[in-house]
Amino acid sequence: YLNYRVPRTRKEIYETLIKGLQRLEYRGYDSAGVAIDGNNNEDKERFIKLVKKRGKVKALEEELYKQDDLDSKTDFETHFGIAHTRWATHGAPSAINSHPQRSDKGNEFVVIHNGIITNYKDLRKFLESKGYEFESETDTETIPKLIKYMYDNRESEDTSFSALVERVIQQLEGAFALVFKSIHYPGEAVATRRGSPLLIGVRSKYKLSTEQIPVLYRTCNIENVKNICNSRMKRLDSSTCLHAVGDKAVEFFFASDASAIIEHTNRVIFLEDDDIAAVTDGKLSIHRLERSASDDPSRAIQTLQMELQQIMKGNFSAFMQKEIFEQPESVVNTMRGRVNFESSTVLLGGLKDHLKEIRRCRRLIIIGCGTSYHAAVATRQVLEELTELPVMVELASDFLDRNTPVFRDDVCFFISQSGETADTLMALRYCKERRALTVGITNTVGSSISRETDCGVHINAGPEIGVASTKAYTSQFVSLVMFGLMMSEDRISLQKRRQEIISGLKSLPEMIKEVLSLDEKIHDLALELYKQRSLLVMGRGYNYATCLEGALKIKEITYMHSEGILAGELKHGPLALIDKQMPVIMVIMKDPCFTKCQNALQQVTARQGRPIILCSKEDTESSKFAYKTIELPHTVDCLQGVLSVIPLQLLSFHLAVLRGYDVDFPRNLAKSVTVE
Ligand code: F6R
Repeated sequence: YLNYRVPRTRKEIYETLIKGLQRLEYRGYDSAGVAIDGNNNEDKERFIKLVKKRGKVKALEEELYKQDDLDSKTDFETHFGIAHTRWATHGAPSAINSHPQRSDKGNEFVVIHNGIITNYKDLRKFLESKGYEFESETDTETIPKLIKYMYDNRESEDTSFSALVERVIQQLEGAFALVFKSIHYPGEAVATRRGSPLLIGVRSKYKLSTEQIPVLYRTCNIENVKNICNSRMKRLDSSTCLHAVGDKAVEFFFASDASAIIEHTNRVIFLEDDDIAAVTDGKLSIHRLERSASDDPSRAIQTLQMELQQIMKGNFSAFMQKEIFEQPESVVNTMRGRVNFESSTVLLGGLKDHLKEIRRCRRLIIIGCGTSYHAAVATRQVLEELTELPVMVELASDFLDRNTPVFRDDVCFFISQSGETADTLMALRYCKERRALTVGITNTVGSSISRETDCGVHINAGPEIGVASTKAYTSQFVSLVMFGLMMSEDRISLQKRRQEIISGLKSLPEMIKEVLSLDEKIHDLALELYKQRSLLVMGRGYNYATCLEGALKIKEITYMHSEGILAGELKHGPLALIDKQMPVIMVIMKDPCFTKCQNALQQVTARQGRPIILCSKEDTESSKFAYKTIELPHTVDCLQGVLSVIPLQLLSFHLAVLRGYDVDFPRNLAKSVTVE
């Protein structure tokens, strides 16, 4: 956060930082910290004030408001504060391990970091051999120490802050988004990224000098470190940097996610890997080390459509609850302008130029993690039917572990709500190297996955804040079905089926509302179940993904053991778990697997199991054997999973609340997993 020529009190600066952190808290939250400029001391030297706290952002906020200099105005024109919430990767959650990390006790350089530094052990060994003492267990601490080392060993007094950062990132391996602050460069900010997201919000009441920031290049010899350190940046002038015309106030916000800054500005610049952004004297410039032919020579200021109220909780007690109840609208937003119910056509604008190539491909590979992977499992069958292509569904981590063969005539889909999941992003890069066509299905405009894929679909579900994914799942589901429909437009033999599915899509929002009206009944069921230790969820065919997804929701927010079981596998092992006590939820819908599901039901009841059955309203058979039933509206088989997952989303929510857990912030989890 940088503010040019607008006096601010420390309280105002803290408030801006804390609010930003609160909006990001869903991503990781075991500790938090800030660094801002302290008061000048008697020698008029600036120093950096660091406050860090274990726990939620609230704890940090309380600590900050105890400070005695809250109402004093800062003495300088440019204010630059940094703040961070941490989700532990290296080192336990604690104040000392939280960010900002510092170079030394004098806080000469402080750094915040998202991501992971894989060669930190070597760096730490090197720095320790040079006499640097480490205080935390983090990989991040090597970064401020390294920049101090570069600074202490600089050859010239004129070395710029960004030149030092440039030198540092050449030594780093892994993924990072970094923001640096230093007492040696007062009022200056330098930020950079590789593999982790980073954007810059720009706010100004005045006309800006440019809407496109040209990228500066510095040709350098990597071998010759001294050269790099001493090379001066090309002098900044109005054509190479961004400022407000006439030297008026302009503020810059660096953030890993737009929701942190959206209340200040919707004008943002997305940084690319290895971009180094520097604000010096209130002016922003972006440069890179070396130019490659494919480089875009400028970074545009884009306008985001996201509204603040979209990320607020409203009348709901948790974001997750709000997001579950948003599904009648979010699926409409996913289909809006794409499905024409009159002409029974589907057009996904982001894919239309590649349709021919996709139709000719060898196979479709759909890759994701967690819930996004379940959306692929849920739609695999209908995609096989509508595209008449082999469809593989893959967990990104396993796909990479196996070095799965990928060919240039494969089409690879990457499903990701955040568009930033490291495993999925790595899998994308792996497929790109093998020249396959890559398609992104994400919920985040400007995310790494949406930018790095050849083409894609934005699911338009709106910001999803709750860690447990809900509305993104149903929108991913609908997006993949729409893709299948678009692929099959010319297949005469499939027209009847397409028609049936398109009608199903049309009535989906109303049916979702009907399912949501079961909330109270599901709450009552939760009252019966919340003290249990374990919960099995069983089904097959189109509804197997519902079982996997339901069990994931239950384990991640209620901390109960839960397993999604393929009913066809029951007698191959899981049946041994069934007795009078073990709660079993069975998903039995009127679809081609109905009879087989009835068999599974018989096997469960024969062992005195007491099944809770999610079934169609018109199913009179299953209820005879049920301990409890939840009756759902019936839709076309391949869309039934959109409806059948909702009672399980609601059930997990109520179970978590009854067990006294914080639904939006499940322990040990983060919303966007940007580390492998
Ligand atoms: C579960 C959940 C996770 C994510 C997974 C992938 O509720 O949210 O399993 O689905 O971490 O995240 P995205 O979709 O952002 O790639």
